[in-house]
Parts: sequence; structure tokens; C-alpha cells
Amino acid sequence: MDYFAYRDGELYCEDVRVREIADALGTPTYVYSSATLKHHYQQTATAFSELDPVICYSIKSCQNLHIIRLLVEQGAGMDVVSGGELYRALKAGADPSRIVYAGVGKTDHEINEAIDAGIGWFNVESEAELAHLIEIAGGRRQTVQAALRVNPDVDPRTHRHTTTGKKETKFGVDLERARRVFDTFGRDPHVKLCGLHLHIGSPVNTVEPYVEAIEKALGLIKGLREDGFAIDTLNIGGGFGAHYEAQEAPSMSAYAEQIIPLLRGRGLQLVLEPGRSIAANAGILLTRVIYIKHGGGKRFVIVDAAMTDLIRPALYDAYHFIWPVGPGGAFTPPQRGRDLRLPGTVKVDVVGGVCETGDFLGRDRQLPPVRRGDLLAVFSAGAYGFVMASHYNSRPNAAEVLVNGPKFRTIRRRETYAELVAPEET
Ligand code: LLP
Repeated sequence: MDYFAYRDGELYCEDVRVREIADALGTPTYVYSSATLKHHYQQTATAFSELDPVICYSIKSCQNLHIIRLLVEQGAGMDVVSGGELYRALKAGADPSRIVYAGVGKTDHEINEAIDAGIGWFNVESEAELAHLIEIAGGRRQTVQAALRVNPDVDPRTHRHTTTGKKETKFGVDLERARRVFDTFGRDPHVKLCGLHLHIGSPVNTVEPYVEAIEKALGLIKGLREDGFAIDTLNIGGGFGAHYEAQEAPSMSAYAEQIIPLLRGRGLQLVLEPGRSIAANAGILLTRVIYIKHGGGKRFVIVDAAMTDLIRPALYDAYHFIWPVGPGGAFTPPQRGRDLRLPGTVKVDVVGGVCETGDFLGRDRQLPPVRRGDLLAVFSAGAYGFVMASHYNSRPNAAEVLVNGPKFRTIRRRETYAELVAPEET
């Protein structure tokens, strides 16, 4: 459930007419809904409340400081994967003890910064990293907590680029090897190896892969505890689904219903790292039609947003529902969905202006007839949207706007040409 809806044929975000934002700030612009972000966070907190989880919002999905701040106010901890994300989390006021730091390539500099900050857990991805963390923490005579990322070898049935829990990916260590890692490093005084971390992929639109992965992790924890290792944390990662094509993602309570019984009474602190399930449906990308072009039997709608603003279609062939913001009249969409075929719509490719054939936002879409100047909304763009933007073709990054009830405010201004070249003026 989100707070983007058509009223009298016009798209609203909460109580703001989306058109007003484009008129005030231009396009392309990302528009986020505070009510949706809060609602998604609270749904997660409520669904898992029995286990009193630490919910670490995955900053990589949507990293704007204002959004991090909003989620910190809701009680969120943070999942970071770089020094830059740690910087953002701290700047936004996150409680360091509720920060987890994941990622396969932490540098010395980043590790030291995280120790300085007093983060809750390092999610350790390899023996080499763990040995190195021990050396750094030992050298500083400080104690840190770590969870070992294990690779449960389950198939999350998602895109090959976002599958992480299978044996052949670069993430984590195999279950068999995990035992040996604990035997070798699990009794170090400076790195308290007190947990396991799982993240099987993203998005995972079924609950079974979580169940399978958690069961495997619990088997490992049982053995480790029998051997005297004090395991008190299980981090099950993120990957919970969002609605792109229809209402395809299970609700947070559907995930929780099957996960909670596995973990009840086990003496484990549950940690979650949701990103997409909180941010994806909380944001749209607003773009304006520049030209209509016919060619090769196709009709192209050329817009002012491009793969530099939203790369998911180009990179993963990801589907994002696209629709005019209105006024729509007969063309008001009854719902969002891949197979919406309203009478009078025409088949088009919605493409950007970047010099790449792969630069498209949507292919073979049935859209109402649109003209130069019309505004389109690209839905479900809140997660892995702006964060994956680039400056290719020297395109300044889009503006970002946060809506709250009847008001909106700029949370990131549009970049200028001067800012594009500023780091080069040495
Ligand atoms: N935890 C870990 C260790 C992760 O690697 C990720 C995402 C998350 C949590 C958050 O996953 P989420 O709840 O957002 O699904 N750019 C791709 C997604 C890459 C996901 C990377 N890791 C996309 O646009 O679909």
C-alpha cells in the first residue's frame, strides 16, 4: 500500500498534485512520500514485533539524508556498505549501536571509521576480512561484534544479478566452511563473532527461500553452540519484495508468519536489513515528454529522464509501470500493472536521450496518446533509482522531493553544470 493515487484523473502523492511539483521544480524529479516510507517501516516493525528485531534500513536502496532521518525517527537502525553510507547514517543521527556494516571489500580506512563510530555489528564476508578485522581491532585494543555472512545455497528465484545466496556468488562463506571459520577465529577477544548473517537475494517474492535459509542457519547455530560458541544474533538480511508489475510482493506479515515460528524462543537477536520493501513503492520518477518519434514500425516517446536517472530497466530489464500524471479522464488507470490495456491506448517505447540503445525506461507499453510537454510518472522507483544515477553524457542528476501531506520540499536540488565539473577544476 502506498500514497500515490489518481483523483479525478490527476496523480497525487499524498495530498499534493504531482504536476505542481514538476511545475515548481522541473523534471526529471524523484518524488517520495513520507507517509509511505513510514507505513512500510511500521509494517515491518509490527509484523516482526514479537521478536523485537533491530530493523536496519538498507541505505543503498535510497540514501537521501532526509529519508534516512525520517526512518531514524521511526526507530530504524541502518545497514551500510561503505564509509560513505556510514557517514550518511551518522550525519542523519542514526544510533551507531544499531548500525550493521556489510560488504565484501571493506578497506582499512572504512574499518577504522566504523570502529571509531562504535557500530553494532560488522557483517564479515570472508576469512581474509575477518583475519584483517582481528588485526585492526586487536591493534587498537578494542572489541567489536561481528556476524559471519553465510551462504546458505538457496535459490531465491530472482534476477541473476541480484541473486546472492547461491554457492557460486562472491558473498559470504559456505555453510561447511563457516564451521572452520569459527574454529579458527571464533574465540578472538577483540572480534566477538556472535552472529550469523544471511542475505539471499533481492527481491525475493516468496517466503520459502527465507525459511530454507534460516533452517540451515539454525542447524549451524546449534552445532556452534554445542561447541561453546556464544551465538546471540541472526541477521536475515533484506530482499523483501515490492510491487512493480502488480501486487506481487508478499506482505511483511506473510514473511513474518513463517519466519517468527522458526526463531521464537531461540535466544537470538533478530536483525533485518530491508531496503526495497520500504523505499521502492515510496517513490516515483517524474519526467516530461520531449519528442514523439516514429521509426522502424515503432513509436518512441522520448522523455527527459534516462538510464542515467533510472538504470534498472537497462541493467536488469526491470519493469516499472509508467503512466501520464493526467488529467486522464477515460485513461485513468484502474490500478497499476503490467497488463493494463485500456481502449484507445497505443504501443510505445519510453526512452531517454542518452546515446545508448539500452537507454529505455519501458518497452512496448500501452500508453494513452501523449504529446510533447506531457508529464509521465515512472512508478516504484524509490529504491535503486536515484542511488544508481550516473553523470554519463554529462547529465546533471535529478532533483529529489519529499511530500508530507499537503506539502512538499526539495530534499536534493537539481545539480548544475558547474557542479558537474567542479571536482575537475584542480
Ligand atoms: N542486505 C544486503 C547484504 C544486501 O546486499 C542488500 C541488497 C540488502 C540488505 C537490501 O536488499 P533489499 O531489501 O533492498 O532488497 N540494484 C538492484 C538491487 C541490489 C540489491 C543489493 N543488495 C535492483 O535495482 O534491483
